[in-house]
Amino acid sequence: MTAHRKLTPGKLIIASHNQGKVREIQALLAPFGIEPVSAAELDLPEPEETGTTFAENALLKAHASAQEGDCVALSDDSGLCVAALNGAPGVYTADWAEADQYEGGPGRDWYMAMGKVEGKLAELGPDTPRNAYFACTLALAWPDGHAEVFEGRVSGNLVWPPRGQMGFGYDPVFQPVGFDQTFAELEPQQKHDMSHRADAFQKLVAASF
Ligand code: IMP
Repeated sequence: MTAHRKLTPGKLIIASHNQGKVREIQALLAPFGIEPVSAAELDLPEPEETGTTFAENALLKAHASAQEGDCVALSDDSGLCVAALNGAPGVYTADWAEADQYEGGPGRDWYMAMGKVEGKLAELGPDTPRNAYFACTLALAWPDGHAEVFEGRVSGNLVWPPRGQMGFGYDPVFQPVGFDQTFAELEPQQKHDMSHRADAFQKLVAASF
C-alpha cells in the first residue's frame, strides 16, 4: 500500500466556483490550520468537466487548480443518484439545472432541476421507489502532479414539494435516512455531521493529517 501524502498547515486552493460547496468545505477544514482560498477568488479558470465519473471530474478540477495556482488544491465533484432513474442525474447533476433564462440570463435553476427529477419519477408511476443518495468525491492534487481521491455517500429519500431554505442545490428535496427534515431544513452543522461531503472528508482527514 502506498503511503498517503500529508497536508501541512498553509494555503490550500478550493478548486470550485460553487459558493455552496466552498462554504461547506471551508467549515469542514476550519479545525485543521489550513488557509483555504477559492479558485473563484484567485480568478482561476474552471476546466470543462469532460469525465464520466465523479473521480475523473474531481481530478480534472484539482489538477487544473494545482497547476494554475502552484499550490495544493482540493476539489469536489458530487451529485444526486436516484435509484429508479438508474443513478441519474449522477455526474450530470449540475447540467440538469442549466437554464437559458434564470434571474435575467443563463444560469442554474435548482427548482427546475428538482422538478425535472420529480417529473421523471412521476412518469414511472406512483409506486416508484424514491430512494436516492448523494455522492461526493474529493480530490487533492499537488503542483508536482501527485493526487489522492476520497469518496463519500449519504442515503435518503426524495420528497416533494421541496422544503427548507438552508444548504444549496437539491437539498430541499433530499431527506436523509432516519430524519424527518430535508437537508435544507437541517442546521448546517447537522448536515456537516452526516453528509456525503462529510463522509468523504472524514476519509481525507484520516489519510492526510
Ligand atoms: P458538480 O460537482 O460541480 O458537477 O456539481 C454537482 C451538483 O450536485 C451541485 O451543483 C449540486 O447541485 C449537487 N450537489 C452536490 N452536493 C450537494 C449537496 O450537498 N446538496 C445539494 N446538492 C448537491
